[in-house]
Amino acid sequence: MEKLSPQKAEKLVAVKGMNDILPDESARWEALEQTVRGVMRRFAFENIRTPVVEQTSLFVRGTGQTTDIVMKEMYSFEDRLNGEALTLRPENTPGVVRAAIEHNLTYDGGKRLYYMGPMFRHERPQRGRYRQFYQLGVEALGFEGPEVDAEIILLAHALFKELGLKNVRVELNSLGVTGERAAHRTALIQYFEQFMDLLDDDAKKRLYTNPLRILDTKNPALKEVVHNAPMLTAFLGPESLARFESVKSALTACGVPWTINPLLVRGLDYYSHTVFEFYTDELGAQGALIGGGRYDGLFELLGGKSTPAVGWGLGMERVLELLKSQGQVASKPVPDAYAIVPDASALTTVLHCLQQLREQGVSVQMHASANAGTASMKSQFKKADASGARYALIFGVDEIASGQLTVKSLRDGIGAQTVYPLNAISQWALKLQSVA
Ligand code: HAM
Repeated sequence: MEKLSPQKAEKLVAVKGMNDILPDESARWEALEQTVRGVMRRFAFENIRTPVVEQTSLFVRGTGQTTDIVMKEMYSFEDRLNGEALTLRPENTPGVVRAAIEHNLTYDGGKRLYYMGPMFRHERPQRGRYRQFYQLGVEALGFEGPEVDAEIILLAHALFKELGLKNVRVELNSLGVTGERAAHRTALIQYFEQFMDLLDDDAKKRLYTNPLRILDTKNPALKEVVHNAPMLTAFLGPESLARFESVKSALTACGVPWTINPLLVRGLDYYSHTVFEFYTDELGAQGALIGGGRYDGLFELLGGKSTPAVGWGLGMERVLELLKSQGQVASKPVPDAYAIVPDASALTTVLHCLQQLREQGVSVQMHASANAGTASMKSQFKKADASGARYALIFGVDEIASGQLTVKSLRDGIGAQTVYPLNAISQWALKLQSVA
């Protein structure tokens, strides 16, 4: 191999807040993704994959101009050819709605969709908060009734149950409709104006842009003022209240406990009616596992036909972290067999034999040396053992010369050996599958 010049290149590292998911960890990710796919199938949700890069205006209009995400957290850049303003998606609800409008996805009825993928927010990184993080999201498009709000909460509940996640609670609130929120907003501004000297900079900034978000403050000094503020629930009319009742009673009927949090307002602008979050107290400040709600106005806001919709997003790192802290271990997958190749001249025969086995569904790790030579049998057996494989396939020089290989058990019945003709290895594969 060509050697690099003695001058050492500067070591490159991952961008702050953006993490590698290495093989030891990725087994846990794959297990989570597999459980997700099973649950989605049971709820009849279909997968959608939209681009990671969208027009910046999609998020400005969709997520909302006054949100923290749009004001301070987006990774935005200009297209170097046409100057188009682009952004790495900080969330995927606007992207899914854009795709649904663009491809007229709801033309013949509602669509229940889900996605898993990376999102990007320029936040201060800490445990459970990253600049690139993965979200699982569900978006149910074109369904007006409160039963779908309940259904997606039940879906999240079913997922957590299947994952064996404990101590997660659901908080609910209703943000009503535009007119109700407008009346509440006026009352909120009037109320907070009496406490101008108490409000922090953030709250002052939000007072006339998005006063609802003041209710979401993390500042303990504002706790009492916020606690006594007019709550949106008091402004909800009979229709909104009845709708919210239906969601609550459906959850109760299905045995899912919930609590009401009148301060739950969500940090994104598009919500109406039901909003909810799933929390844990076991991850410190980053305890929100899922956030979501109804966003009946977003289609129109993005230039589509008025279409009711409801969804949620789940932080996959947070869920994995919680699973780990609750003692769940995911076992790393091990190969069925490890192929021991004492002589490089046998490689073509070995590769061909392994091809047949792999086509039959047997997983085989082939020994390969770091340099072109072959390692000793002893060191190959050591590697075979460390791989966790149940069998060693020994392609010895004499065996190959007589058209055979030896299968040696490395686990149960350790040391037992059987010789197979190379052209009959599929019989061993069949035997293996019948005991698996
Ligand atoms: P969100 O509340 O901004 O909602 O994010 C949903 C979840 O993503 C959070 O509860 C959290 O678990 C995770 N999350 C957010 N930011 C970070 C971060 N920096 N690092 C790690 N995890 C994070 C949305 O994004 C909406 N699109 C949800 C939705 C879908 N609403 C309707 N449909």
